[in-house]
Amino acid sequence: MKPVTVRVPAKVNVQLAVGAARPDGFHDLANVFLAVGLYDEVTVERAPALALTCTGPGDDPLPEVPLDRTNLAARAATELGRRHGIEPDVRIHIAKDIPVAGGMAGGSADAAAALVACDALWGTHASRDELLDICAELGSDVPFSLVGGAALGTGRGEKLVPLDVGGQFWWVFALADGGLSTPAVYREFDRLSPHAPAPAASPALLDALRTGDVHTLAATVTNDLQPAALSLFPALKDTLAAGTAAGALAALVSGSGPTTAFLAADAASAENVADALRASGTCRAVRVAAGPVPGATVV
Ligand code: C5P
Repeated sequence: MKPVTVRVPAKVNVQLAVGAARPDGFHDLANVFLAVGLYDEVTVERAPALALTCTGPGDDPLPEVPLDRTNLAARAATELGRRHGIEPDVRIHIAKDIPVAGGMAGGSADAAAALVACDALWGTHASRDELLDICAELGSDVPFSLVGGAALGTGRGEKLVPLDVGGQFWWVFALADGGLSTPAVYREFDRLSPHAPAPAASPALLDALRTGDVHTLAATVTNDLQPAALSLFPALKDTLAAGTAAGALAALVSGSGPTTAFLAADAASAENVADALRASGTCRAVRVAAGPVPGATVV
């Protein structure tokens, strides 16, 4: 049986509205996701037992990624197998280009990709609804990695409504030195905003996506986790300032951070902002990507 490879994109949250903590510890969200063209590739093939390997850009090892059964990609394979009576005896290789612990849903992307890849390898032909159900069990951002494009996520972010997008938006991503733990950022959010109102999507922002109006989108992007991420990682303020000074139309923390995202007017302006960020000394690496792009896809 031939190996199966699935390509899966990163996401940026163009709006992340966060409510107060729920009794289950999660937060209700109005989460406007946009999939962008920065990809991980997950390859699965039959093996004597479940095994996981991972390399980063340039085939470098990535010690931060766990290679045991706690890895979301391994959990995805195990859960699909469990539901279909199949031992998850697969070797999963993750070729990572999405920053690790960066607020761009890299781990979620790998889970969605492993699920789609195992479904193809085993010929389980799981329905879209079953795949989405497994994704939601694995994590709040995993369903979006499966569907891609643009979507509004409510509940803890897993209930998705696809959104129409009237164009491509160009982004620059500044990768930080170090990571931020998502639960820690939410805890800091609770400390800073104990009485957060119920979250709601911005009609003006949804309209800007629909019409492809980058200037209105830039004026309406928001991230309620940003004050918490900046409180835990104050140096990100310098990165945001450097991108803004370089002509980005909007600058924000991506999800729970510490990657920062900069919306540019077009491809050429994105390259200018990227060059300025590289020269600023305020980040580890810089990437340019446009979205929306499709979700997890067999290649
Ligand atoms: O769902 P996921 O496992 O990705 O969430 C990671 C952590 O982020 C949760 O344990 C929780 O601390 C926080 N979270 C939250 N509310 C959400 C999504 C995530 O508090 N809607």
